[in-house]
Amino acid sequence: MKILNIYASLNGQTEKVAREIEKACIENGCMVATINVRESVQDQMQAVDLLKSDITFIGSGVYTWLPVKQMLKWIEIQLASARNNGLILPGSPRIPGKFACVYSTYAGPHTGEAEAIPAIKYMGQLFDHLGITIAGEWAIPGAFIPEKMQAMNTSGRLGNIEGRPNAHDLKMVREQTLGLIKSLEAGVKAIKIMGTNA
Ligand SMILES: Cc1cc2nc3c(=O)[nH]c(=O)nc-3n(C[C@H](O)[C@H](O)[C@H](O)COP(=O)(O)O)c2cc1C
Repeated sequence: MKILNIYASLNGQTEKVAREIEKACIENGCMVATINVRESVQDQMQAVDLLKSDITFIGSGVYTWLPVKQMLKWIEIQLASARNNGLILPGSPRIPGKFACVYSTYAGPHTGEAEAIPAIKYMGQLFDHLGITIAGEWAIPGAFIPEKMQAMNTSGRLGNIEGRPNAHDLKMVREQTLGLIKSLEAGVKAIKIMGTNA
């Protein structure tokens, strides 16, 4: 299966998750292309063919309930390109065999997981609009890294999140990645065979 692994990470927390997804996919025999959106900002963000891969993983840290600003910019570019190419259709018809898994790392200092949901939904809408089915939505605790924000790692709605995402969180990411791939594999293969025979 072809996997696209897109992420934006300000302090490296989401990158830990993206690397775990990449590792799990490779070990499962998938072909993986990883895009670090913040790196691609420097050499001009480009439109990506989001319909080429079977499953796209996309993740970002949460900043005031939304993805980090470079991810917002990246999504704006992809949406503009999709519109220009006539890919955004009324009713957003489903494209068989195309799936996305959307996740955020977040600290939830004030209202907990409710802070991650808008970011996840926002990123997911790009794919949903294209007709790509959202097959997974994950909210993963990610501690504040800046020194002056450390107090919020113990006083927020999630309680103590120091060191998160920790080894257990990353193991969960790995297991859920493998679980998702397995659940979609047979369907994706069947669509490809039908395409070849058509
Ligand atoms: C300046 C700043 C603002 C943040 N704002 C929020 C927020 O509004 N809600 C939230 O749940 N987490 C917030 N966080 C926590 C981050 O979303 C969390 O640490 C995340 O794992 C960071 O991921 P990244 O390093 O990949 O960008 C904030 C972190 C920083 C540094």
